[in-house]
Amino acid sequence: MTVKAFIFDLDGVLTDTAEFHFIAWQATAHHLGLEFTREDNEALKGVDRVGSLQLILDKGKLTVSEEQFEQLLADKNKHYLELINDINPGNLFPGVLDCFAVLKAKGIKIGLASASKNAAFVVDKLGIADLFDFIGDAASVANSKPAPDIFLSVAQGLGLAPEDCLGVEDAVAGVSAIKAAAMYAVGIGEKSVLTQADIVFPTTGEMDVQQLLS
Ligand code: G6P
Ligand code: MG
Repeated sequence: MTVKAFIFDLDGVLTDTAEFHFIAWQATAHHLGLEFTREDNEALKGVDRVGSLQLILDKGKLTVSEEQFEQLLADKNKHYLELINDINPGNLFPGVLDCFAVLKAKGIKIGLASASKNAAFVVDKLGIADLFDFIGDAASVANSKPAPDIFLSVAQGLGLAPEDCLGVEDAVAGVSAIKAAAMYAVGIGEKSVLTQADIVFPTTGEMDVQQLLS
């Protein structure tokens, strides 16, 4: 395989916004009188906003009106936006800029495949928007992760076949999406959690780009 592009997830791969999503969803759950642990949160990682709330409600065997559902989504996003208000380039995970520099030097394209509707705002705050050759739009794909849609749309945006692309994800749903897109899947996190990944590194900074390209 000759890799022509690295397609990155955002939250939990390039920056620690996954933690802010967790804090905001935990507040939502507590508001509903439900417990919400880090372990519960693993199932939400990479899952879009509506799907995430549905998972919380399902786990608590709760149903709410359509209106309440919309309100809970709006409140969660408001809380999340407050939490990320002060993020800046210093919030990038260590090694991300070095990794991008190596990829650029080798002529490898860089894509972003985030399920977050806040992705454009976040990459702007992180000061990395200009480094991407293509940024996927979560709002414009039909099916969210674990469906392959966002990864396929980014490959298309880069003008490449999926087989030429490698995906990087911290979420179970995200790794499934990469594999469903027929791409090589790099997991960031724990091997015991990201069982579908082709290779797993504990952190993005520890990702061995040379090894992945050889
Ligand atoms: C990412 C995160 C999820 C989050 C989703 C939607 O995939 O991993 O935790 O729920 O984006 O984010 P949004 O900012 O649109 O609510
Ligand atoms: Mg993620």
